Amino acid sequence: MLNIVVCVSGGGTNLQAIIDGVKNGAIRNTKIVGVISNNAGAYALNRAKENEIPGFCISPKNYENRAAFNEAFLDKLAELNPDLIVLAGFLVILPEQMIATYRDRIINIHPSLIPSFCGTGYYGLKVHEEALKRGVKVTGATVHYVDEGTDTGRIIAQKAVEVLDGDTPEVLQRRVMEQAEWIILPKAIDEIAMREE
Ligand code: GAR
Repeated sequence: MLNIVVCVSGGGTNLQAIIDGVKNGAIRNTKIVGVISNNAGAYALNRAKENEIPGFCISPKNYENRAAFNEAFLDKLAELNPDLIVLAGFLVILPEQMIATYRDRIINIHPSLIPSFCGTGYYGLKVHEEALKRGVKVTGATVHYVDEGTDTGRIIAQKAVEVLDGDTPEVLQRRVMEQAEWIILPKAIDEIAMREE
């Protein structure tokens, strides 16, 4: 059984796709042992609660400095002892020690076809705004392992999505989620879980 912790900051639609996948059998051999949010108001925490998954808020606002926040975050992860950490819209710079401790055991979903529209400053809606500005006709999403860089880790899966005339960032974001993110993230977790069985 692959024990996973999902880290979130916002709405948690990718978390929902994982919860649904575990429930309906699309993600096999996997248990969500905890959800960690850096933001107390994240709707993702409601999703955890509704599904009886332990949810935790660890916010930098509640700590004196970054080092204290990092320590609390790492302590919570250690307590949950996951086999895999899934960053599902987690907009926090990871403590360096986390990457070393969980090498090849952290994956992230990014809403573009890496190496386009990724790296520092590219997150959430911003990614789609930039894709529209550049006028690309195809975008998509990427699941990748997390290393020391920003969006530089080994790519696990990608799926392309068409950009349509008249798209707004919000419309494009939704299409990328529906046609790519909510499909490739659960599938990647299932594949990792089945490898470890
Ligand atoms: C998703 O589109 C995810 O790909 C993106 O944030 C959104 C979170 O939505 N992540 C990044 O931009 C990471 N660089 P959600 O909370 O509804 O899953």
